[in-house]
This record gives sequence, structure tokens and C-alpha cells, in this order.
Amino acid sequence: MTGLVVAMDGPSGSGKSSASRGVAKALGLRYLDTGAMYRAMTWWVLHHGIDPADAATVAARAAEPGISSGTDPDGPTIHVDGVDVAGPIREAVVTAAVSAVAAVPEVRTRLVALQRQIIGAGDIVVEGRDIGSVVAPDATLKVYLTASAEARARRRHAELSGTTPTGTTVEAQRAAMARRDEADSTRKTDPLSMAAGAVELDTTALTLDEVIAEVLRLVKERT
Ligand code: DC
Repeated sequence: MTGLVVAMDGPSGSGKSSASRGVAKALGLRYLDTGAMYRAMTWWVLHHGIDPADAATVAARAAEPGISSGTDPDGPTIHVDGVDVAGPIREAVVTAAVSAVAAVPEVRTRLVALQRQIIGAGDIVVEGRDIGSVVAPDATLKVYLTASAEARARRRHAELSGTTPTGTTVEAQRAAMARRDEADSTRKTDPLSMAAGAVELDTTALTLDEVIAEVLRLVKERT
């Protein structure tokens, strides 16, 4: 019998990261942001002058970067070959390229294996796009977070204010997110979709505390 695994999937801006960290803190569990791992791989690809659209080269070199994730929900970390990339992986160049890199099957195979290693015996909240469907199909609880496109764009815009180029509007944010969601949902390997047995939670009208409370209630129900 393994420990608790909570799988939190959903599109960007659905409130996954804050909710996942909040749930992990409340339950004393570890926390893994798998999106950060795809971003780290993408950062390495760009850093090495590889065209992220050149899937054959990305596939051939997918085993090279050493990616390590720290799982403390109070201060998750991400390093590539010993370099702290927590800041750079959130930059617009990485965000624009990550869907292409995450669509390469060799990248997914490598990162899914790493994710399973980190999950190990459990006691962890894992957020991503394919956690309940591919990475941890036996998770104790699978949650699929959604929110209206408008709410997601507004949240992402607020999150990025200060880092986005001046003049980036909520509307532009919404268009960029829609393009990324479309790419993530239609790729051939492990597209974003709701896993069998997942509980859908629409966060549009909920505060962060309400989302966390609902997930905690669902965990309790299952344990
Ligand atoms: O959650 P995020 O925006 O940081 O994720 C970055 C990208 O990584 C996103 O475009 C989809 C991809 N991703 C994925 O394909 N599978 C995961 N488990 C997590 C993220």
C-alpha cells in the first residue's frame, strides 16, 4: 500500500498551482509541479540553441539535461544541470516554446519516468496535465480543475503583472492561453484531458481557500 497521491490536472489559469501547494501544506505532503519540468526541458533546449520546433533534434537530445525538482510546498525548486532556473522558466520565450517541446514523445517518456521516481511511495500532491491519466493513474484522488476562459486569463494576467511587456492586455493573454491550450489538448501524445475517475471542479466562482477546502474534503472522503 503506497502513501497518498493527489493528482491535480487542468489547463493554465485554472488555479492548479496555488491550490496544489495549499493542499500539500494543509496535509503535510510534498508538492511536484510537473509543468516546471517541461519548462526546464524547454529552457535547456533554447539555452543550447536548439530550435524547439525541430522535434527530431529535441527527441535525440531529450536525455541530456539533468533536471531536479525540490518538493517542499513552501519553496519548490527546479534546477537544470545544477543551475537554478526557477525564474527563467517563467519567461515569455519559454512559455511560447513549451507546448512544442512537451509534444515530443521522447521528452514525455523521460519526464514521466522522472516524475514517477519522485512520486515514489507517495505522500505528494502532483500538478500537471496528464497526472491522473498517465503519470499516476492509481492516485488516491484525481481532480480536474477548470475555470471560464475569462477567469483564467484574468488570473494569469494578474499573476504576470510586472513581468509582462507593458500593453499586454487580458484579451491578448486570453488569446495566447487559448493557443497553448489548443496545442496541449490536440497533441498526439498524452493530450490534456480529464482522466477516468477524476472529479471536475470548476473554480470560476470560488476563492482559493474554497478550492483548497473542497479538495481537502474530497481527500478525506477517500481516505
Ligand atoms: O502548467 P504550466 O503552464 O507551467 O505548464 C507548461 C507546459 O507544459 C504546458 O504548455 C503544458 C505542458 N505540460 C504537460 O504537457 N504535461 C504536464 N504534466 C505538465 C505540463
